[in-house]
Amino acid sequence: MSEPTGASAQDLTLDEKASLTSGADFWTTKSVDRLGIPSLMLTDGPHGLRKQGGDTDHLGLAGSIPATCFPPAVGLSATFDPELAERVGVALGIESAIEDVAVILGPGINIKRSPLCGRNFEYMSEDPIVSGAMGAGLVRGIQSQGVGSSLKHFAANNQETDRLRVSSDVDPRTLREIYLRGFQRVVEDAQPWTVMCSYNRINGVYASEDPWLLTTVLRDEWGFEGIVVSDWGAVNDRVSGLVAGMDLEMPSSGGRTDAEIVAAVQNGGLAESDLDTVVDRLLDLTRKAQARPAASGPLDVDAHHALAREVAGRSIVLLRNEGGILPLQPSTSLAVIGEFARTPRFQGAGSSQINPTRIDTALDEIRALSDADVSFAAGYTIDAAPDSDAAALRDEAVAAASAADVAVVFLGVPAHEESEGFDREHIDLPAAQLQLLDAVLAANPNAVVVLSNGGVVALPFADRVPAIVEAWLLGQAGGGGTADVLFGVVNPSGRLAETIPLRIEDTPAFGSFPGEHGHSVYGEGLLVGYRWYDARRMEVAYPFGHGLSYTTFAYGDATASVAESGDVIVTVPVTNTGSVAGREVVQAYTSLPGSSVQRAPRELKAFASVLIAAGETAQVELRLRRAELAYWDTRIDGWVVEGGDYAIEVGSSSRDLRARTTVAVPGDEVVLPVTLGSSFDELLSDPVVGADFSAVIAEKFGTEGDEMLKMLGNFPVGRLDGFPLPRTELVALVERAQRG
Ligand code: BGC
Repeated sequence: MSEPTGASAQDLTLDEKASLTSGADFWTTKSVDRLGIPSLMLTDGPHGLRKQGGDTDHLGLAGSIPATCFPPAVGLSATFDPELAERVGVALGIESAIEDVAVILGPGINIKRSPLCGRNFEYMSEDPIVSGAMGAGLVRGIQSQGVGSSLKHFAANNQETDRLRVSSDVDPRTLREIYLRGFQRVVEDAQPWTVMCSYNRINGVYASEDPWLLTTVLRDEWGFEGIVVSDWGAVNDRVSGLVAGMDLEMPSSGGRTDAEIVAAVQNGGLAESDLDTVVDRLLDLTRKAQARPAASGPLDVDAHHALAREVAGRSIVLLRNEGGILPLQPSTSLAVIGEFARTPRFQGAGSSQINPTRIDTALDEIRALSDADVSFAAGYTIDAAPDSDAAALRDEAVAAASAADVAVVFLGVPAHEESEGFDREHIDLPAAQLQLLDAVLAANPNAVVVLSNGGVVALPFADRVPAIVEAWLLGQAGGGGTADVLFGVVNPSGRLAETIPLRIEDTPAFGSFPGEHGHSVYGEGLLVGYRWYDARRMEVAYPFGHGLSYTTFAYGDATASVAESGDVIVTVPVTNTGSVAGREVVQAYTSLPGSSVQRAPRELKAFASVLIAAGETAQVELRLRRAELAYWDTRIDGWVVEGGDYAIEVGSSSRDLRARTTVAVPGDEVVLPVTLGSSFDELLSDPVVGADFSAVIAEKFGTEGDEMLKMLGNFPVGRLDGFPLPRTELVALVERAQRG
């Protein structure tokens, strides 16, 4: 790009400053030519580049140029491999740089609160550590190419229903530990150039004008150095947003909000220094973009397609494989059944829809890897076209299945059922597809089900089919990745980054999702995803972290120790006990028995995807960050690591735990402000006066003191005059505690 501009806010007129705070059109910012400030392009994202061809129009509707469509987040996150995410990020950065795109709008890391969220295919996980680690990998990769990323949608944007107005009503602890933790990790680890604020309100306040969210938390606490961009159309009140820390409004407001900013400065409603702060941040972004080395095109379409295929293979989760029906032998005759095998659904609808450079179909790729007969029957129409003859399609599929050794049945969610912009109404596969599967199973029980879906689906047939391959939405090379796994060219290693429930009625937000009358109340609190099912000891179809391999792994004894940094280091030997190389995703969960605060039975704190040759043992080391052992203490509005013996469970999924150990973690001291409203127990544990107060109790009540405290321990000390001390003495004691 051009020479980095040396301009600062001081060099700009008021009109020029205001002009920089909103877009020129749908995808670009405004330039100030006299100061060498160029226009920048920010465009979608996140699993490929969606850049409109030709001139950008006002609504951003024109078709986009071809780009590699990598697996959407639902697939990528199942790799549990941040380094692989980083490689995808590098490829996204390269494609963006070639197209002179300054910022690609992704990754999206919102928590999958409910399987019904229409946009879950664009999000990583129900767990903040997975979301954060995978998101950081992508950001690192993108930005290594001199292109910015946009971490989105900040924050608590977990549904599509009424998404531009709804208030996500979340208690502070849940907000910090579940919905913000992943964002915090990405910001602290990878420093994205931009963060995109979400459309929704949080506890009544629009994210786009929330000073607590955009300044106190994001910048002051986490050290974010970039700019905040609005989600497209998220601005409610431009001037309040600017003061709150929302730097760039996108898309263009046609100059309306620029004029509001100018007027606010002129009439004293906005300090010009606040505008200058924003402008200087925008100029910083400009300089970063200008510093990008010249990109060397053209795009290596083949290399990126090959990477898309590798990632697709790594994203697949083998849910079930009874009797070793998989991998398929090339000599096995196959009936490939299901329209999705021929017409793949490989990405979700909405702003992330990429125009792929090419598309693999599973049918072609299966045929390419097979040496035997491969017949095909569509079995159903994807959109259940009214003139389709379901019975005839079924009969054709049954005939094909009967004539083959194995039936490979592709089932999935039609595109019109999940998309950006609206939520799902249920998690069931179409009835016609389930009927088809029943008919095929009756004809040939040797069936492998392959699923195409952006959000999880109920699997009422799980016990009746020998194998189930969860193939998500896998991008343009998903067909090849699927064939690779089916034939064992790739040994599956994907893991569930979200629980597959038995029924929608079992899910944590059932009943409260998507809320009503403008409010979505996060009543399940901390118990999101596996935290909920474990706390309630509920059966699930497949648990968080689950995924099979064509080999087997044995775990040795785990050990854990606290490093000088305070992080907990867990080591465990893992042996590949099968006959082929494979990847194990080793997961470490913690809990604190007897904790003073509510905790899920286990919480993922670290994981690693490790490639182990057959017969070999890997010494796997996992680092559990001390900061991520902390809970959010609402009494002091801060993070606290509670001291104690933490139980550490290491294993292959959240419900397949193979090794256990404990580690003593020193706690943070929590000093609560003491007042006459403090309880007996709180005064007794005060570091300054606790011992003296304890002596008073012992003196007054002798051996009955303990009994008395059982009943009165939670009683505010100032409530009963003269008990247990004369008021003046009690006040003196409290004041001494307050002086410290
Ligand atoms: C979406 C964003 C997207 C933006 C630009 C919005 O509607 O929520 O994820 O980046 O549009 O297309």
